[in-house]
Amino acid sequence: KAKSELKDFLHINDFDRDTILKILDRAAEVKALLKSGERTFLPFKGKTMAMIFAKPSMRTRVSFETGFFLLGGHAIYLGPDDIQMGKREETRDVARVLSRYNDIIMARVFAHQDILDLAKYATVPVINGLTDYNHPCQIMADALTIIEHVGQLEGTKVVYVGDGNNIVHSWLLLASIIPFHFVCACPKGYDPDAKTVAKAQQTGISKIEITNDPKEAVKGADVVYSDVWASMGQKEEATHRRQAFQGFQVDENLIKLAGPKAYFMHCLPAERGVEVTDGVIEAPNSIVFPQAENRMHAQNAIMLHLLGV
Ligand code: CP
Ligand code: NVA
Repeated sequence: KAKSELKDFLHINDFDRDTILKILDRAAEVKALLKSGERTFLPFKGKTMAMIFAKPSMRTRVSFETGFFLLGGHAIYLGPDDIQMGKREETRDVARVLSRYNDIIMARVFAHQDILDLAKYATVPVINGLTDYNHPCQIMADALTIIEHVGQLEGTKVVYVGDGNNIVHSWLLLASIIPFHFVCACPKGYDPDAKTVAKAQQTGISKIEITNDPKEAVKGADVVYSDVWASMGQKEEATHRRQAFQGFQVDENLIKLAGPKAYFMHCLPAERGVEVTDGVIEAPNSIVFPQAENRMHAQNAIMLHLLGV
């Protein structure tokens, strides 16, 4: 099947470059429509979405639920205690039952295999709302935000400082289809998945660097990006990680090294005073809130694409 016709959105590079850019254009178009107060575009009328959350969420839950509603649909929130996918019931059964009620499924899970299984057995589109491995909806929103603020994604320098986690994997997968300069500065032992790095580098599409030197990395950045040092599921490692990540806080000095054109981005939630200072988040070049807003607009466009409307 052509990449533009795939049923699900599980990894950013499930789509090709043209499809990604088309979805981002659509996101901007529907964003403008919703921001104008227009409420008569209801392509999801009569449609329902099941949202499975094995982990907590503010942005993902509220942006999906609100976006689907604003475009005419109805979204159902299923929290960690509700269906207990893989515990109370096997994933393949959840997939087939929900497919008989709903037009689309969105899920946030721990093991990446769970989202793959869900998509395999579901007969409706499945959207990845974050796994331990990646977070494609976040990076679509980030790309939209960069296009709005920097002007374009192609050719920009994005420097991620912190843990080589699910966010980094999605950046790497985006860099394997759209050309930009991606640098991940992480402490030794906290690098992103080596296979994902190698594969993204082998495509030759983007300049991709993994380094342990944040000060050198941020020079000339268009965007300095940060995320928590202990992701969901790693909170018991938080104290140990605070030691290991010394020197990787995005503070005023690091932003100064980046230079005057650098925007600050963070997928949120942020731990102020840990991976980023309060001053950096509150500074005029911080675009974390437009970035959070764009989750909804990017996801609306992803759903329009998957549902073919
Ligand atoms: N950025 C993000 O996914 O936020 P939530 O965990 O609140 O959904
Ligand atoms: N890396 C973070 C992202 C939260 C949106 C986590 O997985 O917890």
